Order: sequence, then C-alpha cells, then structure tokens
Amino acid sequence: MYKTFIRPLLFRFSPERAHGLTFALLRLVQALPFGLRILAWMFRRRPAGLSRTVFGIKFPTPVGIAAGLDKDAEAFDALGALGFSFVEIGTVTPLPQPGNPSPRLFRLVADHSLINRMGFNNQGAARAAERLRKRRTDVIVGGNIGKNKVTPNDQAVSDYVKSFETLFPYVDYFAVNVSSPNTPGLRDLQQRGPLTEILSRLQSCNAAHEKRKPILLKIAPDLTDGQLDDIIEIVKETHIDGVIATNTTISREMIFATPARRVERIGAGGLSGALLTERSTEVIRYLHERSGGAFPIIGVGGIMTPEDAIEKLEAGASLVQVYTGFIYQGPSFARRIVRALDAWQKKEEVQAS
Ligand code: FNR
Repeated sequence: MYKTFIRPLLFRFSPERAHGLTFALLRLVQALPFGLRILAWMFRRRPAGLSRTVFGIKFPTPVGIAAGLDKDAEAFDALGALGFSFVEIGTVTPLPQPGNPSPRLFRLVADHSLINRMGFNNQGAARAAERLRKRRTDVIVGGNIGKNKVTPNDQAVSDYVKSFETLFPYVDYFAVNVSSPNTPGLRDLQQRGPLTEILSRLQSCNAAHEKRKPILLKIAPDLTDGQLDDIIEIVKETHIDGVIATNTTISREMIFATPARRVERIGAGGLSGALLTERSTEVIRYLHERSGGAFPIIGVGGIMTPEDAIEKLEAGASLVQVYTGFIYQGPSFARRIVRALDAWQKKEEVQAS
C-alpha cells in the first residue's frame, strides 16, 4: 500500500515538503482523541521475548527512530505508536537556528539513499523540552545534543552542557553528536582531546543530579581503525554508557546507480540509506570485537530491510535505529522488523537448546 500508492505521491514533493506533510499528519493523529491508540493498534507490536534492558533502560523492542527525523520533538508519541520503542529527538542546540539554505535534502532513489546537509535546523533546546514535558505515552526518548553553528569549537563544551541541562528532566538518555558532517568543524570534536573534555564535563554535570542519565556518543562511519581504537579508550576513560554507530558518511565511493553528474550537482552532505549499510555494520563489528563487548552499541546506518536490522544485532549492536529506511519503507517498517526479529530470536533459542 505505502510503496504502491503513498510513496509515489509523497516522492512527487520535494523531500523536505514530503517530510513536512508526513509530520503534519502525525501531529494531527496525535491530537485526535483516540489517534495514538488506533495507530498503536495498527502498527505497534511488542512480542514478550524482544524486550531487553540496555544501559539501565528496559526497551520493549530493540527498534527505534534515529536522530534528525523528529528534530524538534513534535511527533515522538506518534512515532512510538507506529511501533518504535524509542525515538531520539534532535539534534538540538542551545539556541534556535535555521540550518543551511534549501535545497538541503536529496533523494537518491535508484540507490535507496539520501544526501542531506540540513545543518542542525532546530527550534532550540528549550522548545524541545517544553514539548517533551507533555509526553503522553511510554515511548523512550533520547535527547541528541549538538552545538550552534556560531559557537567556536573551543567553546563547544558550554553548548553541550546547556542543552544537556535543559533537556535533563525530560529525556531518558543522551546522545552526544560530534559526527554530523553539516556543521563546519564539528567532526574535529571527535579527536581525543576535545572529545574527552566534552564527555568528562557532561559526566560531572550528570553526577550532580540525584539520578544520572545514560550518555552515549554518536560517531561517524568515516573514522579510521586507529580513531575507533581511540573511541573505545575514551568510552572507558570517561565511563559513558555506550556508542551510537553510525551517523551519515561524507564518502561518495559506494554510489553506483545515481549518475556521477547528479551526485556532483547535489554537492556536500551526509549520505544515508542502503549505500551506508555495509560500512556502518563494519564499524559496529569492529567496536564490538575490539572492545570485547565492553559497552552497548546502538546500530544505525542503512537498515532498509528487517534482515539489515538482524545483521546489525549479529554484528554486536544491542539496539537499532532507522531513518532512511522509514522514508523508503513507510509506516509498517517497525512492525515488519519486530516480526522478523521475533522469528529470528525464536530460531536462535531453538538452536541454542
Ligand atoms: C540525519 N541524521 C542525524 N543524526 C544526528 O545525530 N543528528 C541529526 O540532526 C541528524 N539529522 C539527519 C537529517 C537527515 C535528513 C538524515 C537523513 C539523517 C543521521 C541519522 O540519525 C542516521 O545516523 C543516519 O541517517 C544513518 O541511518 P539511516 O538513515 O541510513 O537509517
């Protein structure tokens, strides 16, 4: 239904317009008296065997929505009702900012991928907090935090701290985003010195609260093995709770179906979707194996089918997130993944016994 009727219609609009329309619909459903219940009845499945506790939080299923889809925390309840057990809102910055000029989001349909250079367009942490305060369901919410474009890197720490404190009462975990390719210089914060400083400061802020919240680090797929080794050490040193692997890639090497001229015309941005699947899984496997499973990993990047989700879990992920796959597969995507994971898990159990 989605792929035959709705997607062709939505794909006639620009990607941002299609996103706007979809979100308007989700907000409308949320506002209707039984909207969320009907949505959950249609799409949300929670087989008992899929629940798992990761970094101290009990997830009904391991399937969530990645950051960037619900940047301003407008539709997390509806996304939860669609069957995603957790939604990572943001990236939010302390101050509102418009992001990059349009067009800034592009479909590579033949490659089942997207390129975006949104640049953290968002209404600011306070506005997101206001909406999160009104959470109506048990959907788990992650707060993905970043820095404003105008903040120089040597003052980035204070931006992360501001968003952390503003969101603290309203989110279940934090994701520290130092891996978006669309804020100039942001990815330099993945280097050992600045990264250790940001994470240590956030941990001190965390410790000052009565009950601390899990902090995860979101990394780029473009790091070298050496840099990934550094990440493992930094996670251990700063005692953060896990890693989200991965963000979008700046590489264009894997593109094969989209004409090179079109790719060139699109220009800068992060690539997501099917072309990212393999590299993201490789990063997850590397981190999991090299660290000896020392910390949980949320696997994200090119989950376009339920089998891709299984592959991420087999590579060492404890949870998975989707973004581009949701755009291409539609509202029943979480239900399909959950069904496949349930069957996979049962098969594993039989084999183990
Ligand atoms: C993103 N992503 C992202 N990540 C993040 O940490 N903060 C953000 O604000 C955004 N914004 C964003 C916008 C758009 C349009 C896209 C497509 C992606 C990255 C996203 O969360 C995810 O890590 C990657 O897209 C890889 O997963 P998929 O899309 O291949 O499932």
